[in-house]
Amino acid sequence: MSKPQDNAAEGVANITIAGEGHDFPVMQGTVGPSVVDISKLYGQTGYFTYDPGFTSTASCQSKITYIDGDQGVLLYRGYPIDQLAEQSNFLEVAYLLLSGELPGRAEYDEFEHAITHHTMVHEQLHDFFSGFRRDAHPMAVMCGVVGALSAFYHDSTDINDPYQRLVASRRLIAKMPTIAAMAYKYSVGQPFVYPENELDYTSNFLKMCFAVPAAPYKVNPILSRAMDRIFILHADHEQNASTSTVRLASSSGANPFACIAAGIACLWGPAHGGANEAALNMLAEIGTADRIPEYVRKAKDKNDPFRLMGFGHRVYKNYDPRAKVMQQTCHEVLGELGIKDDPLLEVAMELEKIALSDEYFIEKKLYPNIDFYSGITLKAMGFPTTMFTALFALARTVGWVAQWNEMIEDPSQRIGRPRQLYTGHTHRDYVPLVKR
Ligand code: CMC
Repeated sequence: MSKPQDNAAEGVANITIAGEGHDFPVMQGTVGPSVVDISKLYGQTGYFTYDPGFTSTASCQSKITYIDGDQGVLLYRGYPIDQLAEQSNFLEVAYLLLSGELPGRAEYDEFEHAITHHTMVHEQLHDFFSGFRRDAHPMAVMCGVVGALSAFYHDSTDINDPYQRLVASRRLIAKMPTIAAMAYKYSVGQPFVYPENELDYTSNFLKMCFAVPAAPYKVNPILSRAMDRIFILHADHEQNASTSTVRLASSSGANPFACIAAGIACLWGPAHGGANEAALNMLAEIGTADRIPEYVRKAKDKNDPFRLMGFGHRVYKNYDPRAKVMQQTCHEVLGELGIKDDPLLEVAMELEKIALSDEYFIEKKLYPNIDFYSGITLKAMGFPTTMFTALFALARTVGWVAQWNEMIEDPSQRIGRPRQLYTGHTHRDYVPLVKR
């Protein structure tokens, strides 16, 4: 693997438009496809490009995460996801994503101390929660509360001040578990549990979710390790929809809390972070292995909008490397909790087997993604399905913050402003209501 570098000009692409040839620079990254720099296309030719869904468009340069979807590879700052999930911990991975390098001892201790001492939220936020209905979806609460942080922490909203950016980044990473746990506690009508500085990041989160004042709470280290691994697997994923949303929102200069709230809103959708909740609901709906062929048939039917949730990915056309780690973590959690014959797991394993040997899924390269096994694991740990995407948001906050910082420090960054292919009416004169 080569070292990070600023883009290197690799050559020239000649594009012929209306019979006339135009040269555009080709830029090469350290690994992965090169890109044709068409930023001057409109100025040179008067044409835009058209790429709905950005299937062929690199929106930025980044040194953070690399995915090779054909090979099923995911690297954070060059390190393979399976090595990090096995050997690192979430806070170390967070440091890596933010700074570009693994921390030394002193750097790790300083980072851990700073995050730990930012986990409490402004006391008035407690009142803010009571404005929500108890049955509100945790993601609705997360969008609102994280957006509201900009009303509580004015002293870290100046994006041009590197120190304020550092404080905002650490506040977001530190407070997200507290806010997610509060969203859960609020939904079940239990009192909020304050963070405990003696606990590590993930154990603290589990305690804030599951402790009650009436009984002592002991963190299960196996479940805490599994949760930590789930956080690592979700920490970043290159320029996905929610990360691109954060970048686009912040390209206007908006404050970091507002931008991360925008990312949370995007993540909520079932085609993105909401898929883990949808996948578990689907497994429950299928119920028993004998009904799988009926659902596979529905998924293949062009006239039926049903899709196998937890299958397919825009980038991975191979087994999602996160799904492999997730499957193993799932078995560890079920083993620890003594869940031997979980009907959902049985349906999941059978569905995976059937789908992986079905011509339709093979041809379209539809493999299980991370959400396929994460839902079963989180349910076994005691989380309701509505919390699944909130946990994803908690972990992804690190990636969003890293990408946000990278974007702001990039001197070539400008406000994101896509163009369009207009297909509406041409000029026509207004007709007053009485004459219509
Ligand atoms: N079940 C059945 N058919 C599918 C599925 C599926 N899950 N996913 C894609 N296809 C088919 C689709 O109908 C299309 O067929 P055709 O070429 O005949 O029109 C073909 O495969 C390509 O699909 P696409 O929608 O053009 O692909 P995309 O890259 O736009 O969508 C996706 C990717 C993840 C939105 C899609 O695979 C999907 O909806 N999967 C289910 C939801 C899901 O599990 N999402 C979690 C993604 S991983 C977590 C994350 O990163 O957020």
